[in-house]
Amino acid sequence: MELCKCVFLCFSEKLLVLTVATEETDGFHRFMKSASYFNYTVKVLGMGEAWKGGDVGRSIGGGQKVRLLKEAMEALADQEDLVVLSVDSYDLIFAGGPEEILRKFQQANHKVLFAAEGLIWPDKRLADKYPSIRSGKRYLNSGGIIGYAPYINRVVSQWNLHDNDDDQLFYTKIYLDPLQRETLNMTLDHKCQIFQNLNGAVDEVLLKFGTGRVRVRNTVYDSLPVVVHGNGNTKMYLNYLANYVPNAWTYENGCSLCDDDIVDLSQLKVSYPNVLVGVFIEQPTPFLPEFFQRLLTLDYPKDKLNLFIHNNEVYHEKHIQKFWEENRNVFGSFKVVGPEENLSQGEARNMGMYYIRWLAVCEMLLSFICSDGITISPFCLLLPYRKIIGPLVTRHSKLWSNFWGALSLDGYYARSEDYVDIVQRKRVGVWNIPYMAHVYLVKGSVLRNELKERNYFVLEKLDPDMAFCRNSREMTSHREKDSPSPESFHMLRPPKGVFMYITNRHDFGRLISTANYNISHYNNDLWQIFENPVSVHRSLSDRVFVLQPCPDVFWFPVFSEKACDEIVGEMEHYGSWSGGRHEDKRISGGYETVPTDDIHMKQIGFDKEWLHFIREFISPVTLKVFSGYYTKGYAVMNFVVKYTPERQAYLRPHHDSSTFTINIALNNKDRDFEGGGCRFHRYNCSISSPRKGWSFMHPGRLTHLHEGLPTTNGTRYIAVSFIDP
Ligand SMILES: *[C@@H]1O[C@H](CO)[C@@H](O)[C@H](O)[C@H]1NC(C)=O
Ligand SMILES: *[C@@H]1O[C@H](CO)[C@@H](O)[C@H](O)[C@H]1NC(C)=O
Ligand SMILES: *[C@@H]1O[C@H](CO)[C@@H](O)[C@H](O)[C@H]1NC(C)=O
Ligand SMILES: *[C@@H]1O[C@H](CO)[C@@H](O)[C@H](O)[C@H]1NC(C)=O
Ligand SMILES: *[C@@H]1O[C@H](CO)[C@@H](O)[C@H](O)[C@H]1NC(C)=O
Ligand SMILES: *[C@@H]1O[C@H](CO)[C@@H](O)[C@H](O)[C@H]1NC(C)=O
Repeated sequence: MELCKCVFLCFSEKLLVLTVATEETDGFHRFMKSASYFNYTVKVLGMGEAWKGGDVGRSIGGGQKVRLLKEAMEALADQEDLVVLSVDSYDLIFAGGPEEILRKFQQANHKVLFAAEGLIWPDKRLADKYPSIRSGKRYLNSGGIIGYAPYINRVVSQWNLHDNDDDQLFYTKIYLDPLQRETLNMTLDHKCQIFQNLNGAVDEVLLKFGTGRVRVRNTVYDSLPVVVHGNGNTKMYLNYLANYVPNAWTYENGCSLCDDDIVDLSQLKVSYPNVLVGVFIEQPTPFLPEFFQRLLTLDYPKDKLNLFIHNNEVYHEKHIQKFWEENRNVFGSFKVVGPEENLSQGEARNMGMYYIRWLAVCEMLLSFICSDGITISPFCLLLPYRKIIGPLVTRHSKLWSNFWGALSLDGYYARSEDYVDIVQRKRVGVWNIPYMAHVYLVKGSVLRNELKERNYFVLEKLDPDMAFCRNSREMTSHREKDSPSPESFHMLRPPKGVFMYITNRHDFGRLISTANYNISHYNNDLWQIFENPVSVHRSLSDRVFVLQPCPDVFWFPVFSEKACDEIVGEMEHYGSWSGGRHEDKRISGGYETVPTDDIHMKQIGFDKEWLHFIREFISPVTLKVFSGYYTKGYAVMNFVVKYTPERQAYLRPHHDSSTFTINIALNNKDRDFEGGGCRFHRYNCSISSPRKGWSFMHPGRLTHLHEGLPTTNGTRYIAVSFIDP
């Protein structure tokens, strides 16, 4: 035991990590977090210095890193027992601890060990000069170097070039010199024992879940690398791995970093951050009034919420006008930019971003695109305070969501291995991802600093969210026009990308589909039963519980107030009531023995939707109350009846031509009308107080002779279907 302890301590005392970072990027913080998790001793070189080491893309550079290392090594040159590990930090994490590195370094039996990769950079002509190897990665990568201090010093002390000269070329030349290779006892980590460069090797690595710890396994060399480097264009893949490694998410403990940096707003009662809520309505959008109502229910001081609404649709001006009139004084501020401005989506978004700078005290931008159906109440309170973070929202029972787990090489959608688990909330946490849309929160200070470039939502032909995400990820001022080939992506200066997170720690709600939203009806949301079933369902009463007021007459809630009002409104808008005559061209035979004053669903183009409603919401009740009977959910006669003393007040006793009938009250007794109700003769049983939104269900043909009792005042509306005629 004693010996082990000593060995462990001795090892950890002997390793010093040196890294160059001129800025504290998100990637740098992630690196430092993984280092401190394993108790590495890290010395950061160059912090705050201006970067002169060149830019990303095709240029070479990185010499500044060698110069800084050279300066630091001068003081360490004579420490023979000290092992120095020099690594990049913006795009690199540790997957194991210092003792493991030291053990593997000693097993390598060399004085200096460089990381290796399969791609040669920056000078392909040097390929022949590399010693041949039987297997493994052949070429040097300077993102990771480990060696005894005096030897590292002898390598870097040879540096006499400029800050923007290439560091990798410098090391490569030393390594390729056979004499130096021998005297300095140098080799490469060909089989990824310590260093895993991901460039060109993404297919070789997998996550390996252990107890409370996650590693990266290289499946080609069957190794567990300790240093994982997202070099080249593998930054997004490193972000994915780092969502797990070393312990960010495990099967045993779930998310271990989720509560880091969380703002406990309850502690902030006096000084809630100001939030600019950007709402971007770029196309006709179902359920917009409901969306606005949800804004009002946000659990957040309304005077700290500043509304910026961009509306591109004349159709929605009435909704916004109404909301504005009722609530303009509720919010800290309220600005609307209408369709007359003729802004593109990207311009509108830029304007919102710009607006946040006017509001000097604004801390956050909460951006909703086209008013999705999101339950946002707990949202602000529960989000950790990351620079950019969005809640996971999905489409009802679909795998469609507002984020991408991975990017294809050309920058479009790719599915990550964990995408489905995250969408289905089998893995819950806060995930660093490359793309999100529809709803997210951006820290105000980021907008004023990292994202201070004005034109953030416009980039090439990308949609505004794609542009925003790419700009945030890449965050470099000079972009190459054509996409460089993977090897030329050797990033000497990794982009100081801002990490974007999605959280699925709570069920934040659903996305509404705006596709196929036909706004040529009067109440268009009624027609959303196919496209947005959940939203329609929400407007139906959720719990079905069933009463039986008369024998085999079942009574249960189906519609919300709003759904009832919209159906009545739709019918009155159509207006051609039949007048209750026996002659009726709408039905086969042209004659109705027991006519009502009605409008058929078909007449307003609502028959398909209505049958869908019967199948989805009525059939399950049928099965419950008439067990053993499986309804086809088929009906020809679907209509709304209007009873009023001035026209038709009642309906004489009759049977229905149906296996069973539903009869839904669409308005309120004693408020909208007096009298009314239904009487079943065989049982001498009346129901005289129909409830708005509730349906009766009773057999049609044989047992349930019934009549509609007189409406004595006002107007009564019911919706009726003869099912399985
Ligand atoms: C790091 O050090 C702390 C305190 O000494 C210790 O509790 C912890 O287990 C160490 N972490 C690792 C990964 O060894
Ligand atoms: C490198 O150094 C080790 C001892 O640290 C020695 O065993 C090995 O032979 C040396 N290799 C070369 C190529 O000089
Ligand atoms: C709106 O902007 C588009 C594109 O910028 C332009 O083609 C169109 O003519 C503009 N419409 C009006 C009414 O100004
Ligand atoms: C929208 O509804 C109207 C009226 O029902 C119909 O005439 C029209 O074809 C529909 N449009 C689309 C695109 O479905
Ligand atoms: C029907 O019920 C009413 C009271 O509910 C009662 O007064 C009447 O006598 C009953 N009629 C028959 C035929 O049973
Ligand atoms: C009918 O209802 C209206 C309004 O609710 C009321 O003013 C009127 O007195 C009622 N008429 C009768 C006959 O009850």
